[in-house]
Amino acid sequence: MEMKTYNNLLVEVEDGIAVITINRPKSLNALNSETLAELGDIASTIEKSKEVKVVILTGAGQKAFVAGADISEMVNATAQEGRAMALLAAETFNCLENMPQVTIAAVNGYALGGGCEISMACDIRIAADNAKFGQPEVNLGILPGFGGTQRLPRLVGKGRAKELIFTTDQIDAEEAYRIGLVNKVVPQTELLDYCKSMAKKIMSKASYGVTLAKQAINTGMDTDLESGLKLEANLFGLAFATHDKAEGMQAFLEKRKADLTDF
Ligand code: CAA
Repeated sequence: MEMKTYNNLLVEVEDGIAVITINRPKSLNALNSETLAELGDIASTIEKSKEVKVVILTGAGQKAFVAGADISEMVNATAQEGRAMALLAAETFNCLENMPQVTIAAVNGYALGGGCEISMACDIRIAADNAKFGQPEVNLGILPGFGGTQRLPRLVGKGRAKELIFTTDQIDAEEAYRIGLVNKVVPQTELLDYCKSMAKKIMSKASYGVTLAKQAINTGMDTDLESGLKLEANLFGLAFATHDKAEGMQAFLEKRKADLTDF
């Protein structure tokens, strides 16, 4: 994969795992337009890559994952500019959400506003024990604009999402776990290792099967059950055409480890 240099991101690819670090620690990794565009660029590069199977997204420093959209950029923005920023974030986050690779948010501190929102566009959220989640937008006279009003209720239910958005209360990692916003809480020093070991476990499975399952879940959650079940049947059928299906089942019957290669 051809690697560019970014002003606001660090990207490392090793053993099929890309670690993307949002690197603006002085602003607690706040998302300005340039960072959103760079995230869009790396996401669209990775989605075409066969080399990367799992993406881990995190924030630089010990204090914050991402403390939201960049308020210093929004302060003088017009209505058109605000809308353009939200649309840029939507494009970038949709790319992350639907890429064939699995995405894991390693949430190492504040995940507020746009930070909570970008973590929700990832497949899985692992929180460090110092993580704090919240949607503080109504303190600023705006509403969540990077998907918070849509993805938060889908993850934690309408009532809890409304409470978080209307009160702007911050919740800690344990509470985020309790309401289903994060998959697991780990000590901060173990966060990246934990995410990498989860990535390796996922990569040891049939990667194309994982990708088809991701597609079935993502599309199915946004449609009615009957259409979702039809989509699942079609993707299930498609999986029967793969090498990994033939190999995976043959290996099971021969009581040997499968050599799974499709992606
Ligand atoms: N945008 C721009 N700069 C930010 C920022 C943000 N979202 N969050 C923090 N910063 C900057 C601060 O301005 C400060 O900069 P200076 O050192 O130049 O003064 C620096 O990061 C460190 O922050 P604090 O001094 O405030 O650190 P703290 O420990 O006292 O507080 C915090 C930490 C509670 C996270 C606090 O910084 C904070 O409340 N940040 C804003 C959170 C927020 O409102 N996020 C939502 C933004 S709107 C949004 O995201 C809309 C959307 O839906 C997309």
